[in-house]
Amino acid sequence: MKKLLLHLDTDPVPSAFDQAVVYDAGVDNILAYGGITRDNVTPHVHGMIFTRGGKNLKNSAIFIGGSNVAASELVGKAVKKAFFGPVSVSVMLDPNGSNTTAASIVRKVVAAYDISGKKVVIIGGGPVGQRSALYFLKEGASEVIITSRSLARAKAITEQMKKDYDVNITPGESRSDEAVAKLLKGAHVAVACGPAGVCILPKSAWQNNETLDVIADVNAVPPMGVEGLEVMDNGTEKEGIRFYGAIAIGNFKMKVHRGAISALFESNNQFLDETTIYDIACKINI
Ligand SMILES: NC(=O)c1ccc[n+]([C@@H]2O[C@H](COP(=O)([O-])OP(=O)(O)OC[C@H]3O[C@@H](n4cnc5c(N)ncnc54)[C@H](OP(=O)(O)O)[C@@H]3O)[C@@H](O)[C@H]2O)c1
Repeated sequence: MKKLLLHLDTDPVPSAFDQAVVYDAGVDNILAYGGITRDNVTPHVHGMIFTRGGKNLKNSAIFIGGSNVAASELVGKAVKKAFFGPVSVSVMLDPNGSNTTAASIVRKVVAAYDISGKKVVIIGGGPVGQRSALYFLKEGASEVIITSRSLARAKAITEQMKKDYDVNITPGESRSDEAVAKLLKGAHVAVACGPAGVCILPKSAWQNNETLDVIADVNAVPPMGVEGLEVMDNGTEKEGIRFYGAIAIGNFKMKVHRGAISALFESNNQFLDETTIYDIACKINI
């Protein structure tokens, strides 16, 4: 029986990137829809769960994407609600690549570095930064700081994460280069999770730091998020610090993304989201 994936995107046009990965993961066909909201998603879900019964249900699955992470998460909740009893298909939620990217950052770092008891600073508290924080804590980091240019915003993020995941993350303010350097005092790992094409970690903030062992960056668009880092750096050592750039992380992200899509077709009742995609990443060779 052919593997069918229902691709639900909260953006008006379904992402070409997400569809290309699906074919590379061995799916036979994609049914892609844009402009999906929690209010219009139910008939699409019914289209998947009522066409194939019993054991055959595992050959159908749903992927939820979109650049608005919060809107995609609401769609995820509505999809779950549309299932009843054992009548369900597996679902992957990876809006803006946030879960697969964060999982890849953390796997790249911990594959060659013992993170237990270490202090991590994540500069940029968007979806990728937030999920990276969760995974670093899961791996045993003793303290994780998430920064914003506004301390109030950083506090709002960490308070929400406490509510959602019961984790303690320290808020930090990264308004100036000096503030970033101060936050990095005593830190072992720094991760730049800022927007594309913006340098958020200047050399002056990391160069004379005595404790930093690893710096990673997920911005692939010049200038790099970290001054002195190159996009292809893959554990490259400079001035006693190991660097990981966006391509090294992105190459592994592609493997994780494909691995998660393949896993969807193993059964009809999985929900792969920020809490479960990391487990899949852990099973994939770096
Ligand atoms: N390599 C890959 O495979 C891959 C895949 C997906 C995403 N990405 C990259 O991952 C990065 C993070 O993604 P995301 O969606 O989490 O990011 P995001 O939400 O777009 O941005 C993260 C944070 O950066 C801060 N920021 C925005 N503009 C800034 C500026 N001009 N200067 C300093 N800080 C600024 C904002 O925090 P405040 O306003 O609170 O300071 C924002 O919350 C992006 O660079 C994205 O391109 C890479």
